[in-house]
Amino acid sequence: MKLNKISAALAAIVAASAVIAAPAQAAPQVEVLHYWTSGGEAKAVGELKKMMEAKGVTWKDFAVAGGAGENAATALKARVISGNPPTAAMIKGPAIQEWGQEGVLANIDAAAVDGKWATLLPPVVSNVMKYQGHYVAVPVNVHRVNWLWINPEVLAKAGAKAPTTFDEFFVAADKIKKAGLIAVAHGGQPWQDTTVFETVVLGVGGAQFYKKALVQLDQASLTSPTMIKSFETLAKIKTYIDKDSAGRDWNLATAMVINGKAGMQFMGDWAKGEFTAAGKVPGKDFLCVAAPGTEKSFTFNIDSLTMFKVKNPDEQKAQLTLAAAVMSPEFQETFNLNKGSIPVRSGISRAKFDSCATKSMDDMAASNTAGTLEPSLAHGMAVDSAKAGAIQDVVAKFMNSSMTPQAAVQALAKAAKTK
Ligand code: BGC
Repeated sequence: MKLNKISAALAAIVAASAVIAAPAQAAPQVEVLHYWTSGGEAKAVGELKKMMEAKGVTWKDFAVAGGAGENAATALKARVISGNPPTAAMIKGPAIQEWGQEGVLANIDAAAVDGKWATLLPPVVSNVMKYQGHYVAVPVNVHRVNWLWINPEVLAKAGAKAPTTFDEFFVAADKIKKAGLIAVAHGGQPWQDTTVFETVVLGVGGAQFYKKALVQLDQASLTSPTMIKSFETLAKIKTYIDKDSAGRDWNLATAMVINGKAGMQFMGDWAKGEFTAAGKVPGKDFLCVAAPGTEKSFTFNIDSLTMFKVKNPDEQKAQLTLAAAVMSPEFQETFNLNKGSIPVRSGISRAKFDSCATKSMDDMAASNTAGTLEPSLAHGMAVDSAKAGAIQDVVAKFMNSSMTPQAAVQALAKAAKTK
């Protein structure tokens, strides 16, 4: 009895001291800002969380919903300005340089050296991850943007076939419409409008035209007959979108294709993450084809986690652990299987990847050789954020008004000069 009492008292003391000691022993933490909140996206980022927790690092989720990260960018600015940045944020492309100029990014060279990133990443990727020669970001994946997602049952019902050119696309779209279904699933948000727009420019003008117009922002190309034709094509696509599209999230548009309400969607392969999360199989339940006229080209969108300067030494260590985890073969496989993208580093087996992913891998390699691998404008890969924003505004205005293609190209050329 007595002994029991003593041991109970001892146990209480031990428990109390554990509570007191807890802060010193608290697991290091990473806070990660991202916008991966749809079904497929959440599954993918959930894998990273599990991986970090297995390494003894606490994951503090800073998820800000909103496709293509517009809301996330605003939330990030507020946190950085208040001197309390997250450990890492989903920031990519030229925006990494813009944050670098603010002097707020962390040097993660130690992780890169340890992990031999120089031997695993092509220079076109590693250069984007560096600011003034030092790694400040870790690449996650490669998304392809110029896809068309199709429900084959809808095609069959309509007596249509998967298009490879815009002429064929409009034939298929007419048949789907006649069958009483929605031909094009779309969400009326500026970034989605711009995703369709850039894909149309690629299909109508080809990769060299795309580069001159949407990467180099060549004024003559922006106002050329080819750009006018691109806007005419976009205007025609508009007529196949249902009237409830305003503000619709991209994953809800994908769901319309998944459940057979709509036939086709122009979207990057994060859409495949939705099909996969719904248990759908490519080639059977859905088709992934290069968007009309873009079979030989590839618009890329590389996600990356950009690292911010943090004060706590434990958090600094955990930041390097996070960077190493993202480049690990385990992460590159599991995350990308769920996300719809493909690994960004070499040395990952293709065995578990489906036919859309292996097509993406093959097409990326082929377009790299052919010189038709281009950065996505709509997804922050091609130009600085001020110009990209101004161009997006023009495209959104075109989609939501009766603006003529002639007026649109003039507005586009002006937007491209935004400083
Ligand atoms: C990002 C993807 C994301 C998609 C929808 C793209 O810009 O690169 O990771 O899934 O937007 O939010």
